[in-house]
Amino acid sequence: MNEVKIGIVGIGNMGSAHAAAIFDGKINGLRLTAVCDIRKERLDWAKERLPGLKGCYADYGEMLSAGGLDAVLIAVPHPLHPPFAIRALRAGLHVLTEKPAGIDTASVRQMNAEAEKSGKVFGIMYNQRTNPLFAALREGIQAGKLGELKRMVWIITNWYRSQAYYDSGSWRGTWKGEGGGVLLNQCPHNLDLWQWICGMPVRLRAECRIGRYHDIDVEDDVSILAEYANGAQAVFLTSTGEYPGTNRLEISGSLGKAVVENGTLTWTLLKEDERKVRVETKVGFPHMETEKEVLVQEGPESGHCGILQNFTDAVRSGTPLLAPGIEGIRGLSLSNAAYLSADRGGAWVELPVDEEAFAALLSRRQAEETDREKILSGEVLSGTYSERWKVSW
Ligand SMILES: NC(=O)c1ccc[n+]([C@@H]2O[C@H](COP(=O)([O-])OP(=O)(O)OC[C@H]3O[C@@H](n4cnc5c(N)ncnc54)[C@H](O)[C@@H]3O)[C@@H](O)[C@H]2O)c1
Repeated sequence: MNEVKIGIVGIGNMGSAHAAAIFDGKINGLRLTAVCDIRKERLDWAKERLPGLKGCYADYGEMLSAGGLDAVLIAVPHPLHPPFAIRALRAGLHVLTEKPAGIDTASVRQMNAEAEKSGKVFGIMYNQRTNPLFAALREGIQAGKLGELKRMVWIITNWYRSQAYYDSGSWRGTWKGEGGGVLLNQCPHNLDLWQWICGMPVRLRAECRIGRYHDIDVEDDVSILAEYANGAQAVFLTSTGEYPGTNRLEISGSLGKAVVENGTLTWTLLKEDERKVRVETKVGFPHMETEKEVLVQEGPESGHCGILQNFTDAVRSGTPLLAPGIEGIRGLSLSNAAYLSADRGGAWVELPVDEEAFAALLSRRQAEETDREKILSGEVLSGTYSERWKVSW
């Protein structure tokens, strides 16, 4: 295929940044052909900023049936990701969906099954997988550089948001519109990286504090404790109410530890496996020799453009996807399980998550929610890739 013709559904905050990047020729072999949004002002924006598109549609079905597309990029609110992906796959199109994969693993499993049946390329916008530090950390851990894993601690509290942010769209900060709070909106990247680097735990317990810092119906402050099959533990702390906040990931194993913070990956590696020293040494407080390896991030990650380019290359020439869409279910399982645990007073919840129990919880939350009047902030919701969407140290 010479060039991939793509349509974008949802040209708000994120979709408009994707649209501008593709339209401006930043992605080799990808042509923006159509856009779709239910809001007239967004289509007006598109007509002015992206002149000459084949179509500007107010209805997704119309965009799909008009033909002329090879692929669709989905950038609408999260609950719509699975149904919109399924419709595009059934129309014979390749799909790149925004994160999170959806709001419940049951509908995401249906989407994954449809994608596998279709044989089409199905990717997810996990742009933080392009960060060289996370990629190097994953590669090292998979190669056994830290030995057997003992603990992961991620403090990811630099997702600060104001009340005006939550008020900038009626779907934000609601169970009906978003299916959750900081775990569903900001943290899908971190939950994905957690499992991408360390694999999936077998159970977790969590506290998800609802509206601790904002007038919202969903959680904005979370503590998760998870456990792996080998007994290793993971602690994941996040919030949209702390400033300046922290982004620090520390993983320890029997051969040392790795820390990612402030744009630097530092390995502190033991010469001998700690498990051996522990049982063999006659010294009570042994000092073990270590050596440091430091990797400093030079410049920003390729981010959203990196994922768009990789998706395009996958469609054109079968390049393996950096972020296959079917992997989106894993990070979502962690947040679905955290909600279940929090609802049960912090009890342990096994993974894979009980989908029926989660569906019941979600519909109860949605039914209980009051439709609050939102004073829309009037923030301009279009433009280019913002620094705040890159890994922020
Ligand atoms: N990868 C990232 O770094 C990143 C960053 C921000 C947002 N996102 C994701 O992008 C998605 C959109 O977020 P946003 O911040 O752009 O929200 P937004 O509200 O600014 O934009 C969503 C757009 O979808 C449109 N829309 C809603 N329902 C529609 C429908 N049925 N048909 C067509 N258009 C419809 C809305 O009118 C709006 O313009 C979310 O799932 C979010 O998680 C990803």
